[in-house]
Amino acid sequence: MKHLISVQDLSRNDTLHILDTARELDRVTNGGSKLLPTLRGRTVVNLFYEDSTRTRLSFERAAKRLSADVVTFSAKGSSVSKGESLKDTALTLKAMGADMIVVRHPSPGAAHRLAHAGWLESSVINAGDGKHEHPTQALADALTIRAHLRPDAVDFDGLTIGIVGDVLHSRVARSNIFLLSSLGAKVVVVSPPTLLPVKIENWPCTVSYSLDATLPELDAIMMLRVQQERMNGTFFPSELEYSRAFGLNRARAASLPDHAIVLHPGPMNRGVEITAEVADGIRSVITDQVANGLKVRMAAMYLLIGGEVNVA
Ligand code: CP
Repeated sequence: MKHLISVQDLSRNDTLHILDTARELDRVTNGGSKLLPTLRGRTVVNLFYEDSTRTRLSFERAAKRLSADVVTFSAKGSSVSKGESLKDTALTLKAMGADMIVVRHPSPGAAHRLAHAGWLESSVINAGDGKHEHPTQALADALTIRAHLRPDAVDFDGLTIGIVGDVLHSRVARSNIFLLSSLGAKVVVVSPPTLLPVKIENWPCTVSYSLDATLPELDAIMMLRVQQERMNGTFFPSELEYSRAFGLNRARAASLPDHAIVLHPGPMNRGVEITAEVADGIRSVITDQVANGLKVRMAAMYLLIGGEVNVA
């Protein structure tokens, strides 16, 4: 495989291979304290047309742990503000000799276009394209769920995972629904009807409109940020009413089974979809998701442009 654009391009075995490689790279680098020479002399460009904290920093760190040269491009402050097109930016990066481009863009399909338009020879990783997909976040989440709930198993058969909130605007939700179900998990989406995509009935998940009724069934719950910046209308009466119906607070978290974990891809709106008490509580694995993001991004880069060398 040359590019990582969508989890729907990954077979179950591809996903397991990335997760196993992430775990193995973490082991051989002693938790990241040792650098691997795999990408020495290769150039990774982080091309970010949208803001990011976790994804941009972890791709940078992952590339450096593999000894790559890393260039970070932020659309703000670049010639994009003067009207430069995606194609001309791509041709500029090609002329500079990029081996891999990690792209975040507000338009669904931008990563696919960069990979397949014939402008570049580089590998492309989708770091989030509008409402479409965020494959490395879903891989980070799968690695986190595996570490906590299935440390010795190959896949997620028997697990029920809830994804709660603004599914309509969430690329993380879409990538997770397809990836977690491909690993055998039962995925339940919990959302007000206004925040569900059309034709969700064709996605590999079930739908619930009641968080309270669903909580006792869940082994893991992923809370989604309400993405006000992608909303151009009123999707719920008020933040307070949204929070009352779909927010995870201490009382609701107490209805989860004892072993259940709480995830959030970040950034969080504390007090809206999740209270600070739950986000910082004992069930929360939110900082593990960030740490695992670094591991799966190393694995993706390693497998796409580092070659299948023996890391043992
Ligand atoms: N989860 C995620 O994509 O976070 P950032 O927007 O901070 O990268």
